Amino acid sequence: MTSRAIVTGGAGFIGSHVVDALLADGYAVTVVDDLSSGDAARVAGAAKLVELDIVDAPALEALVAEVQPRAIFHLAAQSSVVVSVENPGRDCEVNVRGTLNVLEAAGCCKAPVVFTSTGGALYGDEAPMPTGEERIPAPLSPYGASKWAAEAYVNTWSLSSGIPHAVCRLGNVYGPRQSPHGEAGVVAIFSNHLYTDRAPKLFGHGTPTRDYVYVGDVVSALLSASGRSGTYNIATGVETDVATVWSDLSKAAGKQIEPELADLRPGELTHSCLDTARAQRELGWRAEVPISRGLALTYEALVEEFERS
Ligand SMILES: NC(=O)c1ccc[n+]([C@@H]2O[C@H](COP(=O)([O-])OP(=O)(O)OC[C@H]3O[C@@H](n4cnc5c(N)ncnc54)[C@H](O)[C@@H]3O)[C@@H](O)[C@H]2O)c1
Repeated sequence: MTSRAIVTGGAGFIGSHVVDALLADGYAVTVVDDLSSGDAARVAGAAKLVELDIVDAPALEALVAEVQPRAIFHLAAQSSVVVSVENPGRDCEVNVRGTLNVLEAAGCCKAPVVFTSTGGALYGDEAPMPTGEERIPAPLSPYGASKWAAEAYVNTWSLSSGIPHAVCRLGNVYGPRQSPHGEAGVVAIFSNHLYTDRAPKLFGHGTPTRDYVYVGDVVSALLSASGRSGTYNIATGVETDVATVWSDLSKAAGKQIEPELADLRPGELTHSCLDTARAQRELGWRAEVPISRGLALTYEALVEEFERS
């Protein structure tokens, strides 16, 4: 019998890649997405898309009971830091209540849930680099706070139900299908600037660092975490500054455009880098794609997407 999986947020950037990997592994996949920031066009034709808000607990429970999935990948989220500041109530509703609803619905068929939290927005600026999972979070935004609260539900539900639910704290994910129109996603934003021959703004004068991880590596980590309980940093352990991202993408594009330098925006972290030893040890996972190759792959794919749109 074919194994079934549910991907919440499967019409989003990362979720749509999770859907593709599950289909390639032979799963029958149901996507739950309200299309608030997602795009139905990203969802592979072989998957079933159900337009549903995860805040609607009865509808979600009925769907999970009908599908009887073997695994749930929970990526649906209010994923914008800016929106979380403007509307912390909705951020909390989707990221905390929505996650609780997913955990409750999973109980009917004992499906393990893999929850995507954030490594970037959780640890704050004072954390040692690279930051390990044992560091007590000090989020700077409602988004970081709601992800941390949701993590607590995932861990508590795992303990009380005996179903192994996992938390994956993602670094700065980049890759094909990332939207260049959000406030984050610097790789997609820079790629769009290069494609349209426009100079970007390098905030913090190009010096802030992040732990950039290729979306294909994130997908393999999420699949490895299914059926495990625990909290895992999913990143590369390598710090890369924004100026290097711009220069590597410029090389991939074969273009030279002088960027504009600007001050860091309020609330932005200066450095972020995650310790991934636990994921290597317990999941047998490590990021395989070095940033220079990942950026070249991403630029090529995004240019095709820009040309189609
Ligand atoms: N992109 C990153 O660098 C990054 C880093 C850390 C964590 N994450 C987390 O990974 C997950 C996926 O991120 P992404 O970059 O693909 O974001 P995304 O915004 O592209 O995808 C989120 C998806 O969830 C859907 N969604 C939002 N609210 C919903 C609701 N109430 N009900 C049903 N669906 C809803 C959206 O329509 C969208 O398709 C999110 O949980 C995000 O917080 C992402």
